[in-house]
Amino acid sequence: MTVYQATASAPVNIACIKYWGKRDTKLILPTNSSLSVTLDQDHLRSTTTSRADPSFEKDRLWLNGEEDEIKEGGRLATCIKEVKSLRRQLEEKDASLPKISGYPVHISSHNNFPTAAGLASSASGFAALVASLAALYQLPTDASRLSLIARQGSGSACRSLFGGFVAWQMGEKADGSDSYAVQVAPREHWPDVHALICVVNDEKKGTSSTSGMQRTVETSALLQHRIAHVVPERMRAISDAIKARDFDAFARITMQDSNQFHAVCLDTDPPIFYMNDVSRAIIALIVEYNRVALANSGKLKAAYTYDAGPNAVIYAPKENIKEIVELIVKYFPQAQAFKDPFALFSGKDVQGK
Ligand code: ADP
Ligand code: DP6
Ligand code: CO
Repeated sequence: MTVYQATASAPVNIACIKYWGKRDTKLILPTNSSLSVTLDQDHLRSTTTSRADPSFEKDRLWLNGEEDEIKEGGRLATCIKEVKSLRRQLEEKDASLPKISGYPVHISSHNNFPTAAGLASSASGFAALVASLAALYQLPTDASRLSLIARQGSGSACRSLFGGFVAWQMGEKADGSDSYAVQVAPREHWPDVHALICVVNDEKKGTSSTSGMQRTVETSALLQHRIAHVVPERMRAISDAIKARDFDAFARITMQDSNQFHAVCLDTDPPIFYMNDVSRAIIALIVEYNRVALANSGKLKAAYTYDAGPNAVIYAPKENIKEIVELIVKYFPQAQAFKDPFALFSGKDVQGK
């Protein structure tokens, strides 16, 4: 008897230009384009195994060992349905393929880092889910096509199908067919940029990204300004900075965009606070570190960014990482830097194995 099973793993990505806001909540179409770096190494990953079997009664999913309900019409159901339909099309074209698209699937996923704590678990989680199903069904589909499906699980997930520097183009069409991820540059293009993750708090956040951004769309005037007048230019400028390996420009834009994202959260009614006192103190430390660096060399040495949670991600050229870890550990014994301070990212695309 043939066993139809596949495993895939995907890393998280941390945005430099933040996605925050949907123009279509069902299809998950964003109000602005975004750009991120896919982390590498094994610190922050989701690993997902999918199995199709005619003896299963229905599709089921376990997350970190606990069953998660697959709600009809929900995001998990949509992703599974979309991948199955690609398989069905293949089976219709090639009669020699085993007809497994009709079998129910059992899916088991594990995150090796805190789930729903603002470390982008929904990004690695839905990217790994879609990649494992695509491997199970042996789809000849490219990463951008799969990113269209992962996007419908969690917006940020579409960017984790690629390694390196990745843009999610917001698109214009109502059906979402032009809202997918593209690689701006592979990891090898700029290997000198490293990411340091400082876990300030690993508990589940109070406001999920999904509900937080919806509230922002409904209540924030600042978001409208950001969408129309800030992000388009920043997307161009940061893509240019990446292409030119210009860390100074990359760092400036990344910090500005993190600041504006958290300002937009504060402009939401009722306001959302994702950063805490430790997060803000880490910002102050990096600002001071950069001030001294600017005075000495005319160059910035690090960039902070925060997602929807209190945990800091610091991007910096490799030569500065040791110094930054020493600073953080000195001033913030309560923040825990990952054991291997060189929490890198790579250009490897997600692949089933
Ligand atoms: P985060 O900041 O961690 O991305 P979100 O609020 O965006 O937090 O999303 C968290 C949700 O993402 C979880 O409650 C769960 O529904 C989903 N999720 C996280 N990891 C996985 C995974 N490995 N597989 C499937 N879904 C996942
Ligand atoms: C702050 O992708 O988690 O991390 O699409 O509702 O699942 P949903 O939201 P999600 O939002 C991520 C927000 C962010 C910024 C970013 O990753 O671009
Ligand atoms: Co998320």
